[in-house]
Amino acid sequence: MQATGSERRCLAVVLAAGEGTRMKSSRPKVLHDIAGRSMLGHVLASVKEAGIADVAVVVGPQRPDVEAEARAQFPAASLFVQTERLGTAHAVLAAREALARGYNEIIILFADTPLLETATLVAMRQRLEAGNAVVALGFEAADPTGYGRFVTKGATLDAIREHKDASESERMIRLCNSGLMAVDGALALSLLDAIDRNNAQKEFYLTDIVGIARSRDLATSFALAPEDEVMGVNDRVQLAKAESLMQNRLRRKAMLNGATLQAPETVHMSFDTVLGRDVDVEPYVYFGPRVKVADQVVIHAFSHLEDTVIESAASLGPFARSRPGSHVGAGAKIGNFVELKKANIGAGAKVSHLSYIGDAEVGPEANIGAGTITCNYDGFFKYKTVIGAGAFIGANSSLVAPISIGDGAYVGSGSVITKDVAPDQLAVARGKQLAKDGWGARFRAASEAKKKAKDQK
Ligand code: UD1
Ligand code: MG
Repeated sequence: MQATGSERRCLAVVLAAGEGTRMKSSRPKVLHDIAGRSMLGHVLASVKEAGIADVAVVVGPQRPDVEAEARAQFPAASLFVQTERLGTAHAVLAAREALARGYNEIIILFADTPLLETATLVAMRQRLEAGNAVVALGFEAADPTGYGRFVTKGATLDAIREHKDASESERMIRLCNSGLMAVDGALALSLLDAIDRNNAQKEFYLTDIVGIARSRDLATSFALAPEDEVMGVNDRVQLAKAESLMQNRLRRKAMLNGATLQAPETVHMSFDTVLGRDVDVEPYVYFGPRVKVADQVVIHAFSHLEDTVIESAASLGPFARSRPGSHVGAGAKIGNFVELKKANIGAGAKVSHLSYIGDAEVGPEANIGAGTITCNYDGFFKYKTVIGAGAFIGANSSLVAPISIGDGAYVGSGSVITKDVAPDQLAVARGKQLAKDGWGARFRAASEAKKKAKDQK
């Protein structure tokens, strides 16, 4: 019996052996980030979302960094090394051992094509299931130069001609190959093994699989995607374009989920940014990875957040910075020029102005005065500050950690607190105020007399 739908076993082969010399980087191309995740990570994520459980990643020789990223993003992936760069078909065959495991479907993807949508992968698989031996993904290129061209007859794909091998008339074709390919798993190895290097680049072209399938009277077809979705990244200009397209996609998703972005084009998001309903984001806000914002939160302009959870109806900024490991409780207020780092701010607490709160627990409804600093570091180790519920820290205080301020305690403004403060205690640690009546008048009179004597000399 023929396997159908989810019973069909599918292997995704992700080619990540690119040289990426045009990136002019010490990092391999596929490890460059888009919206806070590597390009390879994006491709592996869309594979996962499409319900494909088995993945083979083909990497270049001596690329432990690429291997580590593949493992981090897709722990079950099997890794293969393409020792020599002899073309895309040669790269796929580096995963021969995986291809031979008896899959119904093989999907081949490029790790430098990071904007691919899950729905497109699903559409490719459906065409394969409909009886095609090979399905290629194409797009209408604004400028087809350099791309492989689709030679079609109706819905049939007769061949893919690489630019360098194409005739004048074939070069007029605007329907181009994205590189993404789906192949019948039972036929894949026999088709791939038939590919030779008789072409302009003396490479094993994966694209030749189409002509070979046709010569065996197998059905071959294609699917189409928008050009933006299948764009490849070869240099930093294309990286920036892919980033901008991804940003638009993420902003759109956030807005359709009920967040207001007052000036969407100025808001930078990460692949995993979560914004709740009625979240209001003012212009120029940066969301680094792992930020989760609950409903009704307001993020004021020019704020920078990373790895932070913000609970409902809290507010942050303008000009706030929340560094990794922070948690802002419901209704809490983080004001301007406040920096949080590994800070857990309780519900309803206020840190309204110019503070550094690092490695700290701040209890619910506590009030942290302007300019309060947690002194958390002695040059070697980090120490924790604990501030109790409803405590009041006077402005311009330094809390020298490790330190604990009890529930309902008060710290006088300008204090340098080095000893724990008990609940409800008042602690003041600053120089005592000196008071001398009439001192100003005496000082002015004496100084004027001194100046006069000097001028007369
Ligand atoms: C390829 C397609 C072309 C398509 C274009 C889309 C072939 C022969 N051509 O051309 O039809 O229009 O992509 O961008 O497939 N790779 C390896 N090992 C190799 C060679 C390539 O891993 O030996 C990987 C690259 O890292 C890259 C991908 O395969 O991710 C495509 O290779 P590339 O050299 O960029 O192919 P193109 O000439 O762009
Ligand atoms: Mg390319």
